[in-house]
Amino acid sequence: IKKITTETLRKMKFDKEIITMLTAYDYTTAKMVDAGGIDAILIGDSAANVMAGHETTLPITLDQMIYHTQCVVRGVERALIVADLPFGSYQSNPEKALDSAVRMMKEGGAHSIKIEGGKEIQKSIVKIINAGIPVMGHLGLTPQSIYQFGTYKVRAKEEEEAEKLMSDAKLLEELGCFALVLEKIPADLAKRVSESISIPTIGIGAGAGCDGQVLVYHDMVGMNKDFSPKFLRRYLDLYTEITGAVSSFVKDVKTGDFPNEKESY
Ligand code: KIV
Ligand code: NA
Repeated sequence: IKKITTETLRKMKFDKEIITMLTAYDYTTAKMVDAGGIDAILIGDSAANVMAGHETTLPITLDQMIYHTQCVVRGVERALIVADLPFGSYQSNPEKALDSAVRMMKEGGAHSIKIEGGKEIQKSIVKIINAGIPVMGHLGLTPQSIYQFGTYKVRAKEEEEAEKLMSDAKLLEELGCFALVLEKIPADLAKRVSESISIPTIGIGAGAGCDGQVLVYHDMVGMNKDFSPKFLRRYLDLYTEITGAVSSFVKDVKTGDFPNEKESY
């Protein structure tokens, strides 16, 4: 199997082949996502939401993200593995950012890391890249700043924020990021950003003009019944499938149907 690298993703943009990314947080899921032919697997800090039940991504720790990453790495043969650095593990302090990124690579086994923000975290990005660690950027609706935004609505609809996003995207390219996520911004802005930089953009809620698309696994397989943003396409209704399977098991056991003779020793 030919492994996907950061260089593969750059080449895909050059060849106009659209990049696919999904999240995974555990071994079994990562194995299936990899077998499905995904290009990149993100151990997102969305694990705070879908794995741990937190309302925001802020509470998840670096140790917890490293654990999720270790689990995913064991299940992946082909995809590029990108791991989120969580809130508080890289902002403001480049030394600390480098320590966090090194731990994610060394202990977690990631192939690259992702961090949220532009100019504000410039020094951290440079420090990490200088250590030989590939960095994926993340602009637009960056969930670690939710308490500053106050809402999960579309970002950069106004000219000023759109211009800052464009200049941050160019900065991330200049600093040497290998790709960047664009989350929940107008499609025309995402398209303009994608056309203005040579590194691939991977969109979520950012329209078809991006160089790739990413979704949260639990959302795209329909495990999250209560989360229905406009940008989400559900490929399965696993919430219904799984609750149905559980209630069938309950019924079969309660009625004495399970286990039958063939299922016994
Ligand atoms: O944590 C996450 O799942 C993400 C993606 C939505 C890009 O950052
Ligand atoms: Na994230």
